[in-house]
Parts: sequence; structure tokens; C-alpha cells
Amino acid sequence: MLKARPAELRDAASIAEIYNQGIDDRVATFETEHRTADSVGGLLTTRADRYPAVVVEDEDRVLGFAWTFEYRPRNAYAGVAEVSIYVAREARGRGVGRLCLEALIREAERCGFWKLVSRIFPENVASRRLCAALGFREVGTYRRHGQLDGRWMDCVIVERLLGAAAE
Ligand SMILES: CC(C)(COP(=O)(O)OP(=O)(O)OC[C@H]1O[C@@H](n2cnc3c(N)ncnc32)[C@H](O)[C@@H]1OP(=O)(O)O)[C@@H](O)C(=O)NCCC(=O)NCCS
Repeated sequence: MLKARPAELRDAASIAEIYNQGIDDRVATFETEHRTADSVGGLLTTRADRYPAVVVEDEDRVLGFAWTFEYRPRNAYAGVAEVSIYVAREARGRGVGRLCLEALIREAERCGFWKLVSRIFPENVASRRLCAALGFREVGTYRRHGQLDGRWMDCVIVERLLGAAAE
């Protein structure tokens, strides 16, 4: 049975492995360099007191994660967080992503954030559908926002209001 829970330091290696699959797939991120378990552990540790992170696991292992991180350092944006979500290749299309994102939304609301934002490559239909299904609005499209393997990529900006801001 699938279960969502807060991410812990012991999840760092699983998170790195799943993240690296997403990097290799070239559908999710401008990142091209693999993460190590140590670097993921460092991120989890430095964000722990402020930015929620969740994993979804079955009986055996972690199948996906979603985490938040800083949007901008300004005080005015203290309640806005960026979101990333990644599911292990062989576990995609089984509801893991939905469970991850639902759990992260709940955690972010509990922590007092009023908005989640993300950027999605237009070609990433799975991610756009998942976000839309969970109440994210497509704000617009950044054109030629960066290059991936020498090719210009657009980015669809999405946002989801939380808590009182969503009323
Ligand atoms: C995008 C991603 C997180 C979705 O996770 P997932 O576990 O495969 O998705 P789920 O099974 O929970 O599906 C949730 C919804 O997403 C949509 N969806 C998922 N896969 C889809 C696909 N291949 N095509 C179209 N829609 C899809 C569906 O609307 C689905 O809703 P439904 O169950 O009501 O049909 C996953 O595919 C992934 O990790 N991709 C690589 C990394 C990535 O792109 N991350 C996002 C960066 S912005």
C-alpha cells in the first residue's frame, strides 16, 4: 500500500536516485548533473526548519518525493514556496505523484505558506495534468527561459493558492 510521510535524512539516497532519473529523462529540469546522496542530505538538512518535503513509499521502498524550497529571499515572499516532484520511472502512472503532491500541499498549508509555484516544460504533459488536477493554475509561459542540451526551452508557470489565500 502506498503511504506518504515527511522526508527524512535516511531518504537522501532514494531521493537522489529518483531525482537523477528525472534529470536523465530531460523532461523535468534544466539540471544535467546528477545529485549525490550527500548533496540531497545537505538540502534536506538546511531546509528542514522551514520547507516541507515528503516521500511516498510502498512496503519496500521510496517511490517518489515532492519538496518545497525558497522562491525569493524577500520577506514579502516568505509565504511563497517553489515545488518539485519526481517519481521513480517504474512507479509512474500509479498515483504516486498525486499522493506526493497532495501530502506536500497539506504540509505547506500547515506550515503557513500561502502559495506554491513551479515551472513546467510545456512538453511535460504528465506534470501539467497532475498539477491541474490538484488545483494549480497555469499563469503563463516564459519563452526561451533557458537551454537544455543546447535547445531553447519554454516554461509554463503554475501557481496554487493555499489556506486562507485560497478562499
Ligand atoms: C510528473 C510525475 C511526477 C507524475 O507522477 P505520476 O506518479 O506518474 O502521476 P500519477 O499516477 O499520480 O497521476 C496523477 C495525474 O497526472 C496525470 N498524468 C500522469 N501521468 C500522465 C501521463 N503520462 N500522461 C498524461 N497525464 C498523466 C493524470 O492526470 C493523472 O490523473 P488521473 O490519475 O486522474 O488520470 C511523474 O511522471 C514524473 O516523475 N515525471 C518525471 C519528473 C517530472 O517531470 N517532474 C515534474 C517536474 S515539473
